[in-house]
Amino acid sequence: MNILDFQKKKDKNEKISVITCYDYTSATIVNASDVDCALVGDSLAMTMHGYETTVPASMEMMTLHTAAVARGINRKFIVADLPFLSYRIDQTKSMEAIQQLMQAGAHAVKLEGADGNMKLIEHAVESGVPVMGHLGMMPQSIHQLGGFRVQGKEEDAEDCLIQQALMLEEAGCFSIVLECIPSDVAASITKALHVPTIGIGAGPHTSGQVLVFQDMLGMQKEFHPKFLKTYLNGFGLIKDALNQYHSEVKTADFPDIREHCYSRDTINEDC
Ligand code: KIV
Repeated sequence: MNILDFQKKKDKNEKISVITCYDYTSATIVNASDVDCALVGDSLAMTMHGYETTVPASMEMMTLHTAAVARGINRKFIVADLPFLSYRIDQTKSMEAIQQLMQAGAHAVKLEGADGNMKLIEHAVESGVPVMGHLGMMPQSIHQLGGFRVQGKEEDAEDCLIQQALMLEEAGCFSIVLECIPSDVAASITKALHVPTIGIGAGPHTSGQVLVFQDMLGMQKEFHPKFLKTYLNGFGLIKDALNQYHSEVKTADFPDIREHCYSRDTINEDC
């Protein structure tokens, strides 16, 4: 999968699958899967670092996680999020942030919102950096939105979102994430655009879908938003495995003397 495949897939009406990914081990699993694209989302502030929002995500965190993911992936397109305010101070600082993520191994960067981002997107794209847009519920604006709330329900919201999506496309975005908006609004935006849309909580009519790795694997016990489908009871399965390990340590069933232990008899033995 490379950047050209995004457009090819939309043109052929073939859906695009995106999954967030934040660490090396998960990246090797994503790499071996059929999923098209890995997003090093700033949601890592929540899933990997335990913060309540994505606002605390820093360039240091994003760079470290992007580099770890890039070491585990060689056959997927990798997009990395520009974190909170890293692209809103001035163009030099924004381009330095983009440079850092691309040099850490990202193939593209993602940023939230259209207003005030046009010049930066144009400059980044002119400089050879693919940019993914993000509209609808924009977690970095959580304190302005008043919570993780569905966006785009008001009467003029559809036109406004279409307008912003067209601005992003015009500036050079190769695709746009649509988060938590009504399905019919996402369908209208997808229809109005040439470039593909990637939805999360935006219904089935987008060009592709993105989910958070930990969420779709059921690893966050208390997190059940309406848009989420869990494909595994990760929390339960991992907890059961930990309990079995604990119990086998207590009973000394692990380690098994024949299966898991070394003896003096074998020479030059690898671990
Ligand atoms: O940070 C993230 O995980 C995201 C996706 C939810 C699109 O931006």
